Amino acid sequence: MSLPMNRDAGPFDPPRGISRLRETRPVSPLVFPDGHEGWVVTGYDEVRQVLADVRFSSRQDIGPIHVPWEAPGMPVSNEPSPQVPGLFISMDPPDHSRLRRKLIGAFTVRRMKALEERVAEIVEQQLDSLANLTPPVDLVREFATPVPSLVICELLGVPYADRETFQANSTQFLVKDQELETKIAAYTAMTTYLGELVTGKRAEPGEDILSDLARDEELSVEELVGIAFLLLFAGHETTANMVALGTFALLEHPDQLAELRAAPELLPDAVEELLRHLSVVDLFFRYAVEDIEIAGETITEGSTVVVSLLAANRDPRRFDDADELDVHRKARGQMAFGHGVHQCLGQQLARIEMRAGFEGLLRRFPSLRMAVPVDEVRLRTDMTIYGVHELPVTWDR
Ligand code: HEM
Repeated sequence: MSLPMNRDAGPFDPPRGISRLRETRPVSPLVFPDGHEGWVVTGYDEVRQVLADVRFSSRQDIGPIHVPWEAPGMPVSNEPSPQVPGLFISMDPPDHSRLRRKLIGAFTVRRMKALEERVAEIVEQQLDSLANLTPPVDLVREFATPVPSLVICELLGVPYADRETFQANSTQFLVKDQELETKIAAYTAMTTYLGELVTGKRAEPGEDILSDLARDEELSVEELVGIAFLLLFAGHETTANMVALGTFALLEHPDQLAELRAAPELLPDAVEELLRHLSVVDLFFRYAVEDIEIAGETITEGSTVVVSLLAANRDPRRFDDADELDVHRKARGQMAFGHGVHQCLGQQLARIEMRAGFEGLLRRFPSLRMAVPVDEVRLRTDMTIYGVHELPVTWDR
């Protein structure tokens, strides 16, 4: 079978076909659009097992990969993609560990805690400018995107004024059916821009993460560019979509929204639950470098394996009433940030941004509501990171 993609069960829920697969065969054979055979893994335990096992490689330079969508920067092709220097999300240990280690210090829980106040300030500024607009407005454009974008730019030392360039280009990588040429053009524009930026930082380092990395002579300029690309990209597209889709989900669950407004101390649990329930980074792949048995199925060497984090996070064998949004749930063990050696490096930052973002939005806009009927909201089924293209909202002034 091919992979069901349409959100036929509702904007927040996995496609029905995916949920059915999880119930009947959590490790299922899959045929890609080009006819190549692979596997899709949908059960919680099974996905966890795949992600914990480095024999399921993240490399894109071995293959063929045969995926109908691809990781940032990677052309769609039946041929292996070249290894991109610095892009450690697509590497295995020890190459992956060498680069990831260089960043651990910058993203510790303690470092992120120290950032909390600054993130709150950025949120407040964005809420001020939102309040000055005449509703209806698109919350994606006016709030959900600028907050994480401003934060990651400041952390990395990327001028926010240049955002038009990198936001437009990074969007091109997320379009599932994008033309190869368009992707290459966007990729070249990004690497040229970031190449100049990191070369400048190497010559004259400042007080930011990219400058700290640029001081490290062990890293080549190409590696610095790859790392900068990954952080900039992962740092704003993901959180932005969680904030927008999370707001949409809360507006569709007004009782829970009212509870959160009255008791903001519930927000950390609510954020964890929204991450679980929505899992905006859903489908990504691994590549079996040997025969591996999972749930009684033998995945043969050379197979492409797609995991669905959304399906895993909705597995009733792991979470009670798994398809219900319940902000009181302790969603411990949710896998929206992945699992294993590639587990999200920016997860503490993302949590801080989401808590501050939802808290501020609920506090400052008590009458916030959708400005269009639910079925008019354009869902990002065409993009590799899920969410909404726009979220038209309004409020009483
Ligand atoms: C709600 C927001 C976010 C979600 C849902 C999310 C999700 C994920 C997931 C699922 C992975 C694992 C991919 C894999 O195993 O192949 C990942 C990796 C990664 N994320 Fe995030 N992410 C978020 C925010 C961020 C932020 C704010 C940053 C900023 C720095 C970031 C940086 C990264 C990096 C660098 C990796 C690669 C880690 C590695 O390969 O070792 N993410 N993220």
